[in-house]
Amino acid sequence: MGCASKRASDPDMDVRQLAILLDVRQALSAPLDLKPALERVLQKLESGQHLVRGAVMLRGQDGDGVQTAASLGFSTDGQRTHDELGDGIAGRVMQSGRPALVPAFSRESLFAKRAPARAGSPVTTFLCVPILLDRKAVGALAVDLEYEESRDYEAAQRFFAALAGTIGDALKAQRAIEEERQHLLDENSRLRRQLLQRYDFSNLVGTSGPMRQAYEQIAQVAPTDTTVLIRGESGTGKELIAHVIHYSSLRAKKPFLKVSLAALPTTLVESELFGYEKGAFTGAFARKRGRFELAEGGTLFFDEIGELNAATQVKLLRVLQEREFERLGGTQPIRSNVRIVAATNKNLEAAIAASEFREDLYYRLNVFSIFVPPLRDRRPDVLLLAEYFLTKYSRQHAKPIRRIATPAIDMLMSYHWPGNVRELENTMERAVLTCEGAVIHGHHLPPTLQTAESSGTLLQSSLSDAVEQYEKDLILDALKSARGNRARAARLLSTTERIVNYKVRKYRIDWRRFREPAPGSAAPGRGDRESP
Ligand SMILES: Nc1ncnc2c1ncn2[C@@H]1O[C@H](COP(=O)(O)OP(=O)(O)OP(=O)(O)O)[C@@H](O)[C@H]1O
Ligand SMILES: [Mg+2]
Repeated sequence: MGCASKRASDPDMDVRQLAILLDVRQALSAPLDLKPALERVLQKLESGQHLVRGAVMLRGQDGDGVQTAASLGFSTDGQRTHDELGDGIAGRVMQSGRPALVPAFSRESLFAKRAPARAGSPVTTFLCVPILLDRKAVGALAVDLEYEESRDYEAAQRFFAALAGTIGDALKAQRAIEEERQHLLDENSRLRRQLLQRYDFSNLVGTSGPMRQAYEQIAQVAPTDTTVLIRGESGTGKELIAHVIHYSSLRAKKPFLKVSLAALPTTLVESELFGYEKGAFTGAFARKRGRFELAEGGTLFFDEIGELNAATQVKLLRVLQEREFERLGGTQPIRSNVRIVAATNKNLEAAIAASEFREDLYYRLNVFSIFVPPLRDRRPDVLLLAEYFLTKYSRQHAKPIRRIATPAIDMLMSYHWPGNVRELENTMERAVLTCEGAVIHGHHLPPTLQTAESSGTLLQSSLSDAVEQYEKDLILDALKSARGNRARAARLLSTTERIVNYKVRKYRIDWRRFREPAPGSAAPGRGDRESP
């Protein structure tokens, strides 16, 4: 320990103490971890104030339990420091909020009992000041100073009180930061929960097992930035799902732009996507921004990604990998923060085999794939969709149509819907337009559906037949979702296992065949095998 060269009465002592205070303030200004900062404070005191040993004790945030936040000069471990100071004088200082001073203090009596090796410690000046936070003592700064006969004890006490004040300020700031952080974390998880609840699937109609599975996948992937590949036959609702993903994501307030690759001439694709600089080619009179720039921060939906030409495939791969691109005729790379959602009804695996689609691009796009099943595989949704479109179009065309007649329902239910939801939507709009009364009848439906009727099945079908068919479909669907587990299927249908067993026997349903992985699962390529 350095020899005491300055005395408390020295005129420049205050300046030195001020310098230390300033130093300490700096050390304690917004540290993430208080412990090393407090240790630095003690080190400064050691060199500047002839500190023999010192410790900062803090009460736990819940008010009980005292811990050594930092200590210096104790050969004992933190626990011992605690025993020596926490229960003793420091404890009392914390309790009373008043400082304690022992001008000539010998630890001998203390150490003699607990640590005989320390016996013979020199006499020191012991000073302990409370650390206040909002006027409550939350800790104490305890120091042993080299004993100096002429020390100005009052001045020393003032200095250490100021120091404890600085520590209190730092503590307050740190607890505020911690509180703020905790608040932000809570807020974050609250917003996340809210976001999940707020998923607006309201314009996505369907309660069938395959659709529920699709909803789960959408909810899972929407809040991330993951690239999504949506697969399924034409008219199944791929674009609608791309919409839902965007508007359920954190990018919802940013643009959602669509690139229809099937509709865009090959020669225009690149300038549409990446834009061009003035003079990039004949006719480029001014700089034009491409869809990537226009969709910045949002989502870019590539419809019919299978139609993308080879040269543009390479460029798209680069954006996906490096998140940057250049305008045509430009040299400056432009950073891009755009989420890609792509859709296809094409068999991309076959296109890869035929060298029409890059395998590396395929893997970049196929990070998360959602399979939208054809409508014929989700029969329970047909009626729901038909009614949804009925409401939509009767409102749009201001017609007071209230319901669909049972024979017409039969026709809708038994048709195989090669054009999927789009075909059903067109069918219902047409029916609304041709309907004069309050009910949609079979003759309001297009001839393609009449074929089923003329096949004889429908003419004879009674209400009970139709209901039975519907019931059978529902049970099949539930069994599919429950992978052949009849108890679970019963729960899905809000009925009892006994009733499900009874119906399974009645309709001669072979539930065992659903025991394998659900046929509606989103295996890549499934949609394409069924594509025309
Ligand atoms: N589950 C659904 N609920 C309500 N409307 C739906 C649903 N699925 C599809 N539609 C509607 O059906 C029509 C066709 O859907 P969409 O355009 O999304 O199909 P797609 O799979 O993109 O077809 P394509 O491959 O031919 O482009 C749209 O008008 C859409 O709103
Ligand atoms: Mg589409």
